[in-house]
Amino acid sequence: MNGPTDRLCALHDLDDPGSAVFPLPHGSHIEQIMVIRQGNDVFGYLNNCPHTGGPLDWVPGVFLDMEKRFIQCATHDALFRISDGECVHGPCLGQYLQPVSLDCDDGWICYRGG
Ligand code: FES
Repeated sequence: MNGPTDRLCALHDLDDPGSAVFPLPHGSHIEQIMVIRQGNDVFGYLNNCPHTGGPLDWVPGVFLDMEKRFIQCATHDALFRISDGECVHGPCLGQYLQPVSLDCDDGWICYRGG
């Protein structure tokens, strides 16, 4: 990703609701962005659980719980609200996922920095 607005994937490439993970070059290392789709809305967070700092996904790109109502950490089952990344259940209750700025542009999910 080189520009201020980078396309990650087409909106319709994700299930509704659904999720995916993308690499994000950040200085000398690579971060991972989780992308969550709900209808025409998209939400992005760094793939770092506030509990340990490790990734949330066991299966790459799978972040939602069985009912697809929350983001779920596969390590200790913390649940995070999709809309703002607040942990509502689990060992990091009340802490937040770190947001990244995404939007939808002409059917594409685009990274806007964060
Ligand atoms: S690492 Fe996510 S809940 Fe423990």
